Amino acid sequence: MNTTIFFSKLFLDACRDTYKVYNYFGLRKNNNFFVFIKIFMIKFFYAFGKLRNLIKPNFDIVDKNKENSKSLIFNEEINLINQVKQLDYYGYSNTHFLKDEVVNDILKESLEFDNFDVKKLKTDLDKKDLAIYENESLDVYIKRLNSLGISRLTKTINLNNNNLTLNRIIFSDEIINIAKSYLNTNKISINATFFISNSIETSEKEKYKNAQYFHWDNDFTKFFKLYIYLNDVDLDNGPHIFVPGTHKSKKKENRLCRLFSDENINQNYKETKTFLGKKGTFFFVDSYGIHKGLAPKKNYRLMLNIHFGRGKILYSSNDRFVEFN
Ligand SMILES: [Fe+2]
Repeated sequence: MNTTIFFSKLFLDACRDTYKVYNYFGLRKNNNFFVFIKIFMIKFFYAFGKLRNLIKPNFDIVDKNKENSKSLIFNEEINLINQVKQLDYYGYSNTHFLKDEVVNDILKESLEFDNFDVKKLKTDLDKKDLAIYENESLDVYIKRLNSLGISRLTKTINLNNNNLTLNRIIFSDEIINIAKSYLNTNKISINATFFISNSIETSEKEKYKNAQYFHWDNDFTKFFKLYIYLNDVDLDNGPHIFVPGTHKSKKKENRLCRLFSDENINQNYKETKTFLGKKGTFFFVDSYGIHKGLAPKKNYRLMLNIHFGRGKILYSSNDRFVEFN
């Protein structure tokens, strides 16, 4: 693609995506008008990996006392600097586990509220029928969603509710030290979204909406995500897939923020990393790299996707912006 065509496409994509995101998330409400310009700058200028790569991790920010601390939340000791180094080098960290009692708490919290995002669903569904009923088992609930023809359900978790166990995890010394260090800032926006993905035959259009095609995200000047599996995830029920190293550089034909076929990705890159794991598995991913969620072939997947972004952009009224010490 010649340079003029590339720049024109990038400019038009940035205009279209900024407009879409601004309206879809009602960004004016939770931010100010300048957020429009901020998002456009990100979609246009930060589409260039070279510019983004200038924001390097800062290992000095990591609290030396917390570097190897045994946690109340995590099952094993985590070396924080190693997590940031892995995230920086490969675009993802090793997988780890949360303690069982914490996992059940956050699963309960995630299922409890009925503030599902219905914009992407058929409009005739009542929000109340999307939430789990009192005394309804998880299996019965998922079967009910299946019968309603829902392939994916999402909702943001209200992080302004300080009593949440999820908040204890997100705002734990470990996670915040990793976030500050990787993003090289103490000003961080946080969003937590819960996903239920079902094994329903989906149309190509639905797969597109469900982020089940390879793509990359560009929501902040720098950001990363913490994924937590809330049920066992194997090859059949929709694991997360990431193309190592693509958070730093992408092949020419993947430099526009669009969707890519499996063939394209398999041709252009040597390997992909697939994240499997038992309930309670978590890992960090820099989703500026190319990734997708595989559509579940059997069963279902429950997952929390928590983003940490550099600077202030609130994508929902449930998000938090915090200036840490
Ligand atoms: Fe994504």
